[in-house]
Amino acid sequence: DDAYVVTHALAKHTLSKLRDVETEQVAFRKGLVKLGRICGYEIIDGRMETEYVSTQTPLEETMGEQVKGVDDVVIVNVLRAATPFVEGLLKAFPRARQGVISASRDETGRKEDGSFPITVDYVKLPEITEDDTVIVADPMLATGSTMCTVLDHVTENSPEPENFIVLSAVSAPDGLLRVGEEFPDVDLLTVSIDDYLDDDGYIVPGLGDAGDRAFR
Ligand code: PRP
Repeated sequence: DDAYVVTHALAKHTLSKLRDVETEQVAFRKGLVKLGRICGYEIIDGRMETEYVSTQTPLEETMGEQVKGVDDVVIVNVLRAATPFVEGLLKAFPRARQGVISASRDETGRKEDGSFPITVDYVKLPEITEDDTVIVADPMLATGSTMCTVLDHVTENSPEPENFIVLSAVSAPDGLLRVGEEFPDVDLLTVSIDDYLDDDGYIVPGLGDAGDRAFR
């Protein structure tokens, strides 16, 4: 249940553009797509294995390598901010099956313990097996209320997959702790662990409201 930080220079570069208040909607969306692609490549590089395959070039037979299980991937899109992020991930995993969950915070109802009540309007998940790599993507992990609700749904009717990843762009320490406690077998992957949550449950310094910046 450790948290891993994506340290690729291009990930940090792209996240900094996303944080910038001057980055307008089109650039923001494109930045999220790009960050999703980089994170996808990082997942392949750091958490998947390759195997040798014999390959016939136009000249002779040689040993090639292929990524094991690259076609057995499920990506869960947490509406709505994850949509451009997932678009980027799909460039790394073009054959991924996709799940969609609409989950959002009731911003007016923050509880004593700092968590938010979550409204779930729509859940559609593909069948998940133990051999799948499952990536649950949401650019923001703040209190972890949304992610814990989403993971409840993902794990409800399926076996826990061997490679189970929660991927965020920015995360707050509270959210990482909460998801790590409730789902100890999940690997938490993020591009940045930010400083704290403010009184409204926003990640600081963060990047604002990713859903609004990408869609409004
Ligand atoms: C934001 C964000 C995450 C969630 C994180 O979504 O995209 O899904 O909040 O917060 P949490 O960790 O405290 O639950 P929001 O509810 O604003 O919905 P949206 O993506 O539709 O804008």
